[in-house]
Amino acid sequence: MLEPPRRHRPDAPAPATPGGLAERGVQPRTTLGLPPGAVPGQAGPPTDEATRPPALPEEFERPSSARVYDYLLGGAAHGAVDRRLGEELTRVAGDVVTLARENRAFLRRAVRFLLAAGVDQFLDLGSGVPTMGNVHEVVARSRSTARVAYTDVDSIAATHGQTLLAGVPTASYSTVDVTDVDAVLAAPGVAGLLELDRPVGLLAFSVLQHVRDDAAGLVGRYVARLAPGSAVALSHFTADDRRVTDHVERLTARYAHGRPRPRTRDEVAAIVAGTDLVDPGLAWAGEWRPEAGRPPAATDPRGHWAAVGFVR
Ligand SMILES: C[S@@+](CC[C@H](N)C(=O)[O-])C[C@H]1O[C@@H](n2cnc3c(N)ncnc32)[C@H](O)[C@@H]1O
Repeated sequence: MLEPPRRHRPDAPAPATPGGLAERGVQPRTTLGLPPGAVPGQAGPPTDEATRPPALPEEFERPSSARVYDYLLGGAAHGAVDRRLGEELTRVAGDVVTLARENRAFLRRAVRFLLAAGVDQFLDLGSGVPTMGNVHEVVARSRSTARVAYTDVDSIAATHGQTLLAGVPTASYSTVDVTDVDAVLAAPGVAGLLELDRPVGLLAFSVLQHVRDDAAGLVGRYVARLAPGSAVALSHFTADDRRVTDHVERLTARYAHGRPRPRTRDEVAAIVAGTDLVDPGLAWAGEWRPEAGRPPAATDPRGHWAAVGFVR
């Protein structure tokens, strides 16, 4: 079940195969409107009218955050349109591969911290594809039986997630929009898996920049529904380092689920203001409790602000 992270080389030639779900033998469900074997932005072989697959829904003609991020992490759930944007980002916006890896490494450290603090159920908002060291893999490596309810708005991430987690009774994947708190908490994969009257680790890694409006108010509405002892762990793409932010904002403006809105340190601090932050407070992802013996990854430019706090 556990997969070692694969090394991604942005300078490597694009794979000869579509490089997406089909490469792993996972076919998208036809209920999503994808023709079997189709991957986002990947034209199929020439066909005559009778065998021509239906046109891809608009979502798959555009790059998406989940798929581009999967590409940057060296995963397999992305298509040509995502690969092109990922390559463009690595060309002009600095070391975005390291920024993505740092964010994922912070996720691992934050989840391990919460497991050690006794949290045994997680609600993950905007989960992305549940591979490359995502939450249930960290839980399994920690020999814990903690439950993980993944949620995301991206169809490919959800299809991939539901397929990968089919045999994992302690994890679920729901397709639902993070901005709809009632819908997230009532989703069968959430309400049927988590006990919301007990502490929950609310995880929001690199997703709140996709909430253009009141992200602090949104997190407050989730926190108000959590039991005492619950915690919030989040990372948020920064608006403080314009060397990377300007390029990322320009290139991701066509994302299928809306253009991101990076935020400054003060704006991210406001999002976690209703929690008691553990040391070191709000920090760059690479500098939040780096593993003992390892110096914090020093990326320049910086990518995500990161914090873990307990609900009052
Ligand atoms: C950069 S990825 C982060 C994935 C994962 N949380 C991590 O940090 O490793 C951002 C994720 O947020 C998801 N997302 C964007 N807008 C969303 C929304 N309105 N509701 C739920 N998820 C959303 C994207 O589909 C994508 O999977």
